[in-house]
Amino acid sequence: IRVFVPGDAAALSVGAEAVAAAIAAEAAARGIAVTFVRTGSRGLFWLEPLVEVDRPGGRVGYGPVTAAEVRSLFDAGFLDGGAHARALGRVEDIPYLARQQRVTFARCGIVDPASLADYEAHGGLKGLRAALAMDPAAIVAAVTESGLRGRGGAGFPTGIKWRTVLEAAGPRKYIVCNADEGDSGTYADRMLLEGDPFLLVEGMAIAGLAVGAGKGFVYIRSEYPHAFRRMQAAIETARAAGLLGPDILGSGRAFEMEARLGAGAYICGEETSLLESLEGRRGQIRFKPPLPAISGLFGRPTVINNLITLATVPAILADGAAAYRDVGTGRSRGTMPIQLAGNVRHGGLVERAFGLTLGEIVEEFGGGTATGRPVRAVQVGGPLGAYWPTDLFDVPFEYEAFAARGGMIGHGGIVVFDDTVDLARQARFAFQFCAIESCGKCTPCRIGAVRGAETMDKIIAGQDRDANLTLVRDLCEVMRDGSLCALGGLTPMPVVSALDHFPEDFDRPAQACA
Ligand code: NAI
Ligand code: SF4
Repeated sequence: IRVFVPGDAAALSVGAEAVAAAIAAEAAARGIAVTFVRTGSRGLFWLEPLVEVDRPGGRVGYGPVTAAEVRSLFDAGFLDGGAHARALGRVEDIPYLARQQRVTFARCGIVDPASLADYEAHGGLKGLRAALAMDPAAIVAAVTESGLRGRGGAGFPTGIKWRTVLEAAGPRKYIVCNADEGDSGTYADRMLLEGDPFLLVEGMAIAGLAVGAGKGFVYIRSEYPHAFRRMQAAIETARAAGLLGPDILGSGRAFEMEARLGAGAYICGEETSLLESLEGRRGQIRFKPPLPAISGLFGRPTVINNLITLATVPAILADGAAAYRDVGTGRSRGTMPIQLAGNVRHGGLVERAFGLTLGEIVEEFGGGTATGRPVRAVQVGGPLGAYWPTDLFDVPFEYEAFAARGGMIGHGGIVVFDDTVDLARQARFAFQFCAIESCGKCTPCRIGAVRGAETMDKIIAGQDRDANLTLVRDLCEVMRDGSLCALGGLTPMPVVSALDHFPEDFDRPAQACA
């Protein structure tokens, strides 16, 4: 009997290891042979640890399971799908999952991330095999036709970026995967690294074939030690199986890969800082131009993409560009892995075609707040994303609709707040975050963030409200227009959205001096 227990960091953080140990001990005591598969997570975090059992009609789930409940699960006959207070029925039928369109996450939480054979048995390597039969320009054309845009946040068309690198002259080119997932409330990159790492190997190898690059680097944030180890193991397995190396899948084409660990700096998620860090220097912004596509890692033409972007390419090559392009809305084609976090009842990963409204995501998938209080605001797109009030919950989740209202979808993170949130303090937090994470290269960001936090302190203390609010808005304009990169340039977004949508939080009575 096969039992699936996630080995994903999120499941481990709520006791998955103890649950697996308890199941093993109880099975041994009862003389039952159990085969464990340590999967990634399905991304239904409020149900973790989510234990699944192979049944003829599909896997059935039990969750959230504690180690103390394991004996009662055996008593209830859970290995035969028996009834229990934690029984969830067929996992695929859980509405949160049944209503999704999983393309990039099709295998996550299902396959054994340590097994290349399991990856292939679930449709893996089809995209790479298709790419090996195509010439580079045809691969780039397929990616362009799919409408895939950069999932790191900027939404730049992936096919155009790849074409720039393909057309750039040079004996050596690189593929760099940005897995420095620093945005608050985001974990999609981590889930794939831990739950379906061969997908990234396949996506990077396809990118290498497309642009003529022989080497790829995955840059993983230091806060993801499990993901880093999992990725390193996957690379070794892939190399041993001939999926990486001088002759990938016997094609005579070469591609090699390495995983590198960051050192805990948010700014290293910005592509040029990431390249500096990969080259062994302090993570600091480089001037653009030249674009990394022309002069990137070690001065060579480089494709640098977010992990989700690269991990989506195999499905495009396997199922055809049209299948991907045909879902979505407007210029936002395909699916987006949305990550629900913060004060939310059903936090987790929701992959759906672009176009769901913000309200549908937060209320219908998220189920409102975990505290049960009314939702007052959501922040979308990380710590530099806008705060949205509930009266804008009819906005469809897609690049252009969000930009038109002064926001961004970023990497797809949504952080939910209830009615106890203080948006003036959140605005202060944005400046403080920028002050801590600034690389210090340009003045609007380095000085502006510190002055912004100080001015917000005065507003919160009720001092010279009108003058200080004018000052904050002026400062935001300077930072937005004068900063060298998106960290300083986007810090005004949460501040201005809080000011615009929640002005009452900035209208504070003067506090008595201590
Ligand atoms: P950008 O708009 O300058 O560039 C987007 C990408 O397209 C870059 O990779 C750039 O090199 C490439 N590019 C632009 N023109 C090109 C051309 N003609 N040919 C080939 N490539 C070209 O945006 P940037 O500064 O790289 O990123 C800003 C975005 O990052 C923000 O919009 C935000 O959403 C997102 N962000 C994401 C974070 C995360 O943790 N995922 C954190 C902070 C911001
Ligand atoms: Fe560095 Fe901030 Fe300027 Fe970006 S905006 S280059 S992080 S100082």
